Amino acid sequence: MLTYSIPTEAGGTGKTTTAINLARAHADAGHDVLLVDLDSQNVSATWFLGDVEWAKDQQHPCLSKIIMGLGSDASLTDIVVAQEEEGFDLLPRHVNDSNFESYYRKAESMAQMEGREFEPCVQLRDQIARERLHTEYDVIIYDVDGSANLKLNQALAASQNVVVPFTVSEKGQSSVGGIRESLNGIESDLGISMTVSALVPNMVDYSSVQECKIAARIIDSDEYTTPIAIGDRATLEKMANGGGSLRSVIADGHGGEKHERTADRYDILAAYLERKANLSDREVDTETPPYYDRIQKYLGSEVVA
Ligand SMILES: Nc1ncnc2c1ncn2[C@@H]1O[C@H](COP(=O)(O)OP(=O)(O)O)[C@@H](O)[C@H]1O
Ligand SMILES: [Mg+2]
Repeated sequence: MLTYSIPTEAGGTGKTTTAINLARAHADAGHDVLLVDLDSQNVSATWFLGDVEWAKDQQHPCLSKIIMGLGSDASLTDIVVAQEEEGFDLLPRHVNDSNFESYYRKAESMAQMEGREFEPCVQLRDQIARERLHTEYDVIIYDVDGSANLKLNQALAASQNVVVPFTVSEKGQSSVGGIRESLNGIESDLGISMTVSALVPNMVDYSSVQECKIAARIIDSDEYTTPIAIGDRATLEKMANGGGSLRSVIADGHGGEKHERTADRYDILAAYLERKANLSDREVDTETPPYYDRIQKYLGSEVVA
Protein backbone atom coordinates (compact mmCIF):
# COMPACT_ATOMS: atom_id res chain seq x y z
CA MET A 1 0.00 0.00 0.00
CA LEU A 2 1.32 3.40 -1.00
CA THR A 3 -0.34 6.58 0.19
CA TYR A 4 0.82 10.17 0.13
CA SER A 5 -0.29 13.80 0.13
CA ILE A 6 1.13 16.46 -2.15
CA PRO A 7 1.43 19.61 -0.03
CA THR A 8 3.43 22.81 -0.42
CA GLU A 9 3.36 26.07 1.41
CA ALA A 10 2.33 28.00 -1.67
CA GLY A 11 -0.32 27.83 -4.37
CA GLY A 12 0.49 27.28 -8.02
CA THR A 13 3.61 25.18 -7.45
CA GLY A 14 2.20 22.27 -9.47
CA LYS A 15 0.62 20.08 -6.80
CA THR A 16 -2.42 19.13 -8.85
CA THR A 17 -0.33 18.67 -12.00
CA THR A 18 2.01 16.36 -10.07
CA ALA A 19 -0.89 14.47 -8.46
CA ILE A 20 -2.65 13.71 -11.74
CA ASN A 21 0.49 12.66 -13.60
CA LEU A 22 1.58 10.42 -10.74
CA ALA A 23 -1.88 8.85 -10.48
CA ARG A 24 -1.70 8.06 -14.19
CA ALA A 25 1.86 6.70 -13.89
CA HIS A 26 0.89 4.33 -11.06
CA ALA A 27 -2.19 3.21 -13.04
CA ASP A 28 -0.07 2.59 -16.14
CA ALA A 29 2.20 0.41 -13.98
CA GLY A 30 -0.84 -1.76 -13.25
CA HIS A 31 -1.85 -0.48 -9.83
CA ASP A 32 -5.35 0.35 -8.56
CA VAL A 33 -5.22 4.05 -7.81
CA LEU A 34 -7.51 6.50 -6.02
CA LEU A 35 -6.92 10.24 -6.35
CA VAL A 36 -8.65 12.24 -3.61
CA ASP A 37 -9.40 15.85 -4.54
CA LEU A 38 -9.13 17.98 -1.39
CA ASP A 39 -8.33 21.20 -3.23
CA SER A 40 -10.37 24.21 -2.15
CA GLN A 41 -9.80 25.97 -5.44
CA ASN A 42 -12.00 25.52 -8.48
CA VAL A 43 -8.83 24.77 -10.41
CA SER A 44 -8.66 21.33 -8.82
CA ALA A 45 -7.97 17.79 -10.03
CA THR A 46 -11.69 17.42 -10.74
CA TRP A 47 -11.54 20.37 -13.12
CA PHE A 48 -8.30 19.16 -14.75
CA LEU A 49 -9.90 15.79 -15.41
CA GLY A 50 -13.17 17.23 -16.78
CA ASP A 51 -15.89 18.30 -14.40
CA VAL A 52 -18.19 15.85 -12.69
CA GLU A 53 -21.87 16.25 -13.53
CA TRP A 54 -23.26 16.16 -9.98
CA ALA A 55 -20.51 18.30 -8.43
CA LYS A 56 -22.80 21.35 -8.24
CA ASP A 57 -25.97 19.51 -7.24
CA GLN A 58 -26.75 20.58 -3.65
CA GLN A 59 -28.62 17.34 -2.98
CA HIS A 60 -25.73 15.12 -3.96
CA PRO A 61 -23.54 13.77 -1.14
CA CYS A 62 -20.01 15.14 -0.93
CA LEU A 63 -16.79 13.99 0.69
CA SER A 64 -16.84 16.57 3.51
CA LYS A 65 -20.35 15.67 4.69
CA ILE A 66 -19.69 11.94 4.41
CA ILE A 67 -16.56 11.99 6.53
CA MET A 68 -18.17 14.29 9.13
CA GLY A 69 -21.23 12.03 9.33
CA LEU A 70 -23.61 14.90 8.51
CA GLY A 71 -26.94 13.75 7.19
CA SER A 72 -25.68 11.44 4.53
CA ASP A 73 -25.83 7.66 4.43
CA ALA A 74 -23.59 7.63 1.39
CA SER A 75 -20.09 6.23 1.52
CA LEU A 76 -16.97 7.53 -0.19
CA THR A 77 -17.17 4.53 -2.51
CA ASP A 78 -20.59 5.80 -3.68
CA ILE A 79 -19.15 9.09 -4.92
CA VAL A 80 -16.02 7.70 -6.60
CA VAL A 81 -15.88 8.50 -10.31
CA ALA A 82 -13.88 6.14 -12.52
CA GLN A 83 -11.63 7.95 -14.99
CA GLU A 84 -11.90 5.52 -17.87
CA GLU A 85 -9.28 7.12 -20.09
CA GLU A 86 -6.75 7.50 -17.28
CA GLY A 87 -7.29 4.14 -15.61
CA PHE A 88 -7.64 5.50 -12.06
CA ASP A 89 -10.49 6.51 -9.73
CA LEU A 90 -11.24 10.03 -8.50
CA LEU A 91 -12.93 11.17 -5.31
CA PRO A 92 -14.11 14.45 -6.79
CA ARG A 93 -14.53 17.91 -5.38
CA HIS A 94 -18.14 19.03 -4.85
CA VAL A 95 -19.05 22.74 -4.47
CA ASN A 96 -20.11 22.03 -0.89
CA ASP A 97 -16.63 20.82 -0.07
CA SER A 98 -15.70 24.50 0.22
CA ASN A 99 -17.77 24.43 3.47
CA PHE A 100 -15.34 21.94 4.96
CA GLU A 101 -14.44 24.05 8.00
CA SER A 102 -18.05 24.70 8.97
CA TYR A 103 -18.97 21.00 8.59
CA TYR A 104 -16.00 20.14 10.76
CA ARG A 105 -17.10 22.60 13.48
CA LYS A 106 -20.63 21.26 13.31
CA ALA A 107 -19.47 17.67 13.71
CA GLU A 108 -17.25 18.77 16.60
CA SER A 109 -20.07 20.53 18.46
CA MET A 110 -22.50 17.64 17.82
CA ALA A 111 -19.98 15.26 19.33
CA GLN A 112 -19.57 17.53 22.34
CA MET A 113 -23.33 17.78 22.86
CA GLU A 114 -23.68 14.01 22.72
CA GLY A 115 -20.69 13.50 25.01
CA ARG A 116 -18.72 11.67 22.34
CA GLU A 117 -15.03 12.10 21.86
CA PHE A 118 -13.98 14.11 18.81
CA GLU A 119 -10.42 13.50 17.80
CA PRO A 120 -9.06 16.29 15.62
CA CYS A 121 -8.05 15.78 11.98
CA VAL A 122 -8.72 12.04 11.69
CA GLN A 123 -12.24 11.92 10.16
CA LEU A 124 -10.98 11.22 6.64
CA ARG A 125 -8.46 8.64 7.84
CA ASP A 126 -11.16 6.85 9.86
CA GLN A 127 -13.69 6.82 7.00
CA ILE A 128 -11.06 5.43 4.61
CA ALA A 129 -10.35 2.70 7.17
CA ARG A 130 -14.06 1.93 7.75
CA GLU A 131 -14.54 1.46 4.02
CA ARG A 132 -11.34 -0.54 3.76
CA LEU A 133 -10.15 1.58 0.86
CA HIS A 134 -6.57 0.74 1.82
CA THR A 135 -7.15 -2.82 0.78
CA GLU A 136 -9.19 -1.94 -2.30
CA TYR A 137 -6.52 0.38 -3.73
CA ASP A 138 -2.77 -0.07 -4.08
CA VAL A 139 -2.16 3.68 -4.16
CA ILE A 140 -4.10 6.58 -2.61
CA ILE A 141 -3.00 10.13 -3.43
CA TYR A 142 -4.37 13.23 -1.67
CA ASP A 143 -4.26 16.45 -3.67
CA VAL A 144 -4.45 19.36 -1.23
CA ASP A 145 -4.33 23.16 -0.93
CA GLY A 146 -1.34 25.42 -0.69
CA SER A 147 -2.38 26.80 2.67
CA ALA A 148 -2.31 25.15 6.04
CA ASN A 149 -5.90 24.31 6.95
CA LEU A 150 -8.08 21.60 8.46
CA LYS A 151 -8.41 19.77 5.14
CA LEU A 152 -4.66 19.60 4.71
CA ASN A 153 -4.35 18.18 8.23
CA GLN A 154 -6.92 15.50 7.38
CA ALA A 155 -4.87 14.48 4.35
CA LEU A 156 -1.62 14.44 6.33
CA ALA A 157 -3.19 12.30 9.06
CA ALA A 158 -4.59 9.88 6.47
CA SER A 159 -1.37 9.55 4.48
CA GLN A 160 1.48 10.14 6.97
CA ASN A 161 3.64 10.57 3.91
CA VAL A 162 4.28 13.46 1.52
CA VAL A 163 5.71 14.20 -1.92
CA VAL A 164 6.52 17.89 -2.15
CA PRO A 165 6.70 19.84 -5.40
CA PHE A 166 8.31 23.23 -5.13
CA THR A 167 9.39 25.99 -7.45
CA VAL A 168 13.11 26.55 -7.59
CA SER A 169 13.37 30.06 -6.25
CA GLU A 170 14.49 31.51 -2.95
CA LYS A 171 10.84 31.52 -1.97
CA GLY A 172 10.40 27.91 -3.06
CA GLN A 173 13.42 26.91 -1.08
CA SER A 174 12.14 28.51 2.10
CA SER A 175 8.81 26.75 1.62
CA VAL A 176 10.64 23.43 1.77
CA GLY A 177 11.72 24.39 5.28
CA GLY A 178 8.14 25.41 6.04
CA ILE A 179 6.83 21.97 5.11
CA ARG A 180 9.06 20.27 7.67
CA GLU A 181 7.84 22.73 10.30
CA SER A 182 4.18 22.05 9.60
CA LEU A 183 4.84 18.31 9.56
CA ASN A 184 6.51 18.62 12.96
CA GLY A 185 3.39 20.43 14.17
CA ILE A 186 1.03 17.70 13.04
CA GLU A 187 3.33 14.98 14.34
CA SER A 188 3.13 16.36 17.85
CA ASP A 189 -0.58 17.25 17.66
CA LEU A 190 -1.63 13.80 16.49
CA GLY A 191 1.17 11.65 17.85
CA ILE A 192 2.02 10.29 14.41
CA SER A 193 5.17 10.40 12.33
CA MET A 194 5.34 11.88 8.86
CA THR A 195 7.70 10.87 6.07
CA VAL A 196 8.92 13.11 3.25
CA SER A 197 9.32 10.60 0.42
CA ALA A 198 10.50 12.98 -2.28
CA LEU A 199 10.95 16.59 -3.27
CA VAL A 200 10.10 17.55 -6.83
CA PRO A 201 11.72 20.72 -8.17
CA ASN A 202 9.07 21.99 -10.60
CA MET A 203 9.04 24.61 -13.39
CA VAL A 204 12.85 24.67 -13.35
CA ASP A 205 14.32 27.15 -15.80
CA TYR A 206 17.49 25.32 -16.81
CA SER A 207 18.90 28.44 -18.45
CA SER A 208 18.97 30.27 -15.13
CA VAL A 209 22.20 29.78 -13.22
CA GLN A 210 20.47 31.00 -10.08
CA GLU A 211 17.76 28.32 -10.33
CA CYS A 212 20.29 25.62 -11.17
CA LYS A 213 22.32 26.59 -8.10
CA ILE A 214 19.34 26.28 -5.82
CA ALA A 215 18.30 22.99 -7.40
CA ALA A 216 21.85 21.61 -7.10
CA ARG A 217 22.05 22.62 -3.43
CA ILE A 218 18.88 20.70 -2.68
CA ILE A 219 19.86 17.64 -4.73
CA ASP A 220 23.26 17.54 -3.04
CA SER A 221 21.85 17.80 0.46
CA ASP A 222 21.26 14.48 2.15
CA GLU A 223 18.06 15.64 3.76
CA TYR A 224 15.64 14.77 0.95
CA THR A 225 15.46 12.58 -2.15
CA THR A 226 14.80 14.31 -5.47
CA PRO A 227 14.28 11.49 -8.01
CA ILE A 228 13.12 13.86 -10.76
CA ALA A 229 12.77 17.52 -11.62
CA ILE A 230 10.32 19.02 -14.09
CA GLY A 231 11.28 21.91 -16.32
CA ASP A 232 9.18 24.89 -17.23
CA ARG A 233 6.87 23.12 -19.68
CA ALA A 234 4.13 25.20 -21.20
CA THR A 235 2.55 22.01 -22.51
CA LEU A 236 1.54 21.00 -19.02
CA GLU A 237 -1.04 23.75 -19.33
CA LYS A 238 -2.87 21.60 -21.89
CA MET A 239 -3.90 19.42 -18.96
CA ALA A 240 -6.27 22.17 -17.86
CA ASN A 241 -10.04 22.04 -18.08
CA GLY A 242 -10.59 18.41 -18.96
CA GLY A 243 -7.27 17.77 -20.72
CA GLY A 244 -6.33 15.19 -18.08
CA SER A 245 -2.86 13.79 -17.49
CA LEU A 246 0.08 14.44 -19.77
CA ARG A 247 -0.31 10.90 -21.14
CA SER A 248 -3.91 11.73 -22.06
CA VAL A 249 -2.86 14.98 -23.71
CA ILE A 250 -0.34 12.99 -25.77
CA ALA A 251 -2.93 10.31 -26.61
CA ASP A 252 -5.25 13.06 -27.82
CA GLY A 253 -2.59 14.19 -30.29
CA HIS A 254 -1.47 17.35 -28.44
CA GLY A 255 2.00 16.30 -27.47
CA GLY A 256 5.32 15.28 -28.99
CA GLU A 257 8.65 13.87 -27.96
CA LYS A 258 9.27 16.52 -25.28
CA HIS A 259 6.00 15.70 -23.59
CA GLU A 260 6.80 12.02 -23.68
CA ARG A 261 10.04 12.81 -21.89
CA THR A 262 8.22 14.78 -19.22
CA ALA A 263 5.66 11.99 -18.77
CA ASP A 264 8.57 9.51 -18.50
CA ARG A 265 9.90 11.56 -15.58
CA TYR A 266 6.64 11.09 -13.68
CA ASP A 267 6.96 7.34 -14.37
CA ILE A 268 10.39 7.40 -12.74
CA LEU A 269 9.05 9.16 -9.66
CA ALA A 270 6.06 6.80 -9.48
CA ALA A 271 8.38 3.79 -9.73
CA TYR A 272 10.61 5.22 -7.00
CA LEU A 273 7.63 5.67 -4.67
CA GLU A 274 6.26 2.20 -5.49
CA ARG A 275 9.61 0.64 -4.73
CA LYS A 276 9.87 2.48 -1.43
CA ALA A 277 6.45 1.09 -0.47
CA ASN A 278 7.35 -2.44 -1.62
CA LEU A 279 4.72 -2.29 -4.38
CA SER A 280 7.29 -2.90 -7.05
CA ASP A 281 10.86 -4.10 -7.34
CA ARG A 282 11.70 -2.00 -10.38
CA GLU A 283 15.16 -0.49 -10.03
CA VAL A 284 15.26 3.30 -9.93
CA ASP A 285 18.53 5.17 -9.90
CA THR A 286 18.08 8.21 -7.72
CA GLU A 287 21.77 8.78 -7.08
CA THR A 288 22.18 10.58 -10.37
CA PRO A 289 18.84 12.15 -11.25
CA PRO A 290 18.33 12.25 -15.03
CA TYR A 291 18.25 16.04 -15.11
CA TYR A 292 21.42 16.58 -13.14
CA ASP A 293 23.68 16.69 -16.20
CA ARG A 294 21.73 19.60 -17.44
CA ILE A 295 22.08 21.54 -14.24
CA GLN A 296 25.80 20.86 -14.12
CA LYS A 297 26.23 21.98 -17.70
CA TYR A 298 25.08 25.45 -16.74
CA LEU A 299 27.09 25.58 -13.58
CA GLY A 300 30.34 24.06 -14.74
CA SER A 301 32.57 22.97 -11.91
CA GLU A 302 31.15 25.49 -9.50
CA VAL A 303 28.56 23.18 -7.99
CA VAL A 304 30.01 19.79 -8.65
CA ALA A 305 32.54 20.38 -5.90
N1 LIG B 1 6.42 22.31 -14.88
C1 LIG B 1 5.51 23.21 -15.26
N2 LIG B 1 5.76 24.05 -16.29
C2 LIG B 1 4.87 24.98 -16.68
N3 LIG B 1 3.64 25.14 -16.12
C3 LIG B 1 3.31 24.33 -15.09
C4 LIG B 1 4.22 23.33 -14.60
N4 LIG B 1 3.59 22.67 -13.56
C5 LIG B 1 2.39 23.25 -13.43
N5 LIG B 1 2.21 24.24 -14.32
C6 LIG B 1 1.03 25.13 -14.49
O1 LIG B 1 0.98 25.98 -13.34
C7 LIG B 1 -0.38 26.21 -12.95
C8 LIG B 1 -0.56 25.75 -11.49
O2 LIG B 1 -0.41 24.34 -11.43
P1 LIG B 1 -1.25 23.46 -10.41
O3 LIG B 1 -0.81 22.05 -10.62
O4 LIG B 1 -2.70 23.76 -10.50
O5 LIG B 1 -0.66 24.01 -9.04
P2 LIG B 1 -1.24 23.88 -7.55
O6 LIG B 1 -2.08 22.67 -7.50
O7 LIG B 1 0.00 23.79 -6.71
O8 LIG B 1 -2.00 25.14 -7.29
C9 LIG B 1 -1.22 25.43 -13.94
O9 LIG B 1 -1.65 26.31 -14.94
C10 LIG B 1 -0.28 24.39 -14.51
O10 LIG B 1 -0.63 24.02 -15.82
MG1 LIG C 1 -4.04 22.38 -6.83
